Amino acid sequence: MAIQRKTAVILGAQWGDEGKGKIVDVLSERFSVVARYAGGHNAGHTVIIGGKKFVLQLIPCGVLRPGCRGVIGNGVVLDPMAFLSEVKKLREAGLAIASGRDGQLFVSNRAQVILPYHRMIELAAENAPGRTKIGTTSRGIGPAYEDKMHRSGLRVIDLLNTALLRTHIENACHEKNTIAAALFGTAPLDPKAMYEEYARAAEQIAPFVTDTAELLNEVIEKGEKVMFEGAQGALLDIDHGTYPYVTSSSSTAGGAVTGTGVGPNRIGTVIAVTKAYVTRVGEGPFPTEIHDDSATLLRARGQEYGAVTGRPRRCGWLDLPLLRYSNMINGTEWLVVTKMDVMDECAEIPVCTGYKIGGRLTETIPAEMRGFETIQPVYTKLKGWACSTEGITEFERLPKLAQEYLNFMERESGARIGMVSTGPDREQTMTMAAFDAVLA
Ligand code: IMP
Repeated sequence: MAIQRKTAVILGAQWGDEGKGKIVDVLSERFSVVARYAGGHNAGHTVIIGGKKFVLQLIPCGVLRPGCRGVIGNGVVLDPMAFLSEVKKLREAGLAIASGRDGQLFVSNRAQVILPYHRMIELAAENAPGRTKIGTTSRGIGPAYEDKMHRSGLRVIDLLNTALLRTHIENACHEKNTIAAALFGTAPLDPKAMYEEYARAAEQIAPFVTDTAELLNEVIEKGEKVMFEGAQGALLDIDHGTYPYVTSSSSTAGGAVTGTGVGPNRIGTVIAVTKAYVTRVGEGPFPTEIHDDSATLLRARGQEYGAVTGRPRRCGWLDLPLLRYSNMINGTEWLVVTKMDVMDECAEIPVCTGYKIGGRLTETIPAEMRGFETIQPVYTKLKGWACSTEGITEFERLPKLAQEYLNFMERESGARIGMVSTGPDREQTMTMAAFDAVLA
């Protein structure tokens, strides 16, 4: 008999954009709370409901379901303006997004705040000569986490204290303006105008702010179900990802613990979302990247353009060593495979089953960039199913070759496939019986 799990971490298996938004939205009806634990408005979750498109960057997708509460955890870096504009957009779309004790959305009092000088420094540094260009989303994410680790950041609780906010902005602007002018020749930011703008924003944010660690632990104690929603993807993790081409937070499953204040023994299961192929935006290694017409086909059929920046995504074949690595560092129990239908027109599907580095066959993921740069993927070629899988919701109704593709993926990846997505809408989703039972 399946052991039911009250909590689950759900995250992207590779470099983000795996289609997690839709999956979190579909699964959220089984959970009372969805909590974000890392990143900021660099994430972009596209959800399509009844043909209407919502792009959420900061607010957990769960809030789109009546009765499901959203939490922005302490591990998140919060841009107050981005947060307020997202709340406004959702309210204009007819969602209540109530704040306060009995509200629907909660922001951790311990989350860090992104301020305009974080963006200023990031934009200048990304383009400075001699720097490794990461291809960031230019949202100030890295510099905000730098301040957090440097112990000079501003937390949400401090944003609400006007005297503290004023002093913090004055001191920080003095320091950041001096650095930006000296290193990059950037024009200074005005601390007075910044204080006034952020003090006004703080008033609007205040009703959402609470001790979310306490809230989440209480909810779990009561036996309610909580989903921890990752942002970005496991291989963008600051420790385990393809450093330095990563984001600045712990996007792996472990981040759910430190990023929300819930103990590791309270994590019920880990669900990783992977496309049937792989994509990446921004710079950095990508062993199975496709450089021929197949990439154009996948990009066009899969609408592979960044949800936040609109940049075309790099496309590649499924990389099993990388997926196994991702499953290992996350403790992934279940896989959700998205965009199966995007591969409907592929006559042949190469799947990477190993690497050759310096002429030697290996399955180990190199820690250094030099290793990545010399990888030659070893491919097994599978026959494409070459017919439509769009909207199919039962495994047995998939074409045989599509079933074989999924079986191969499951066998080789070390995790079980729990769901398969065959189109962008909520209804175009297949849920395996065993997975259904675990999350019932
Ligand atoms: P940052 O998070 O803006 O610092 O960007 C660092 C790297 O992570 C860049 O390669 C970005 O393109 C990538 N990145 C950040 N957030 C996401 C996301 O939500 N999806 C995909 N890539 C992301």
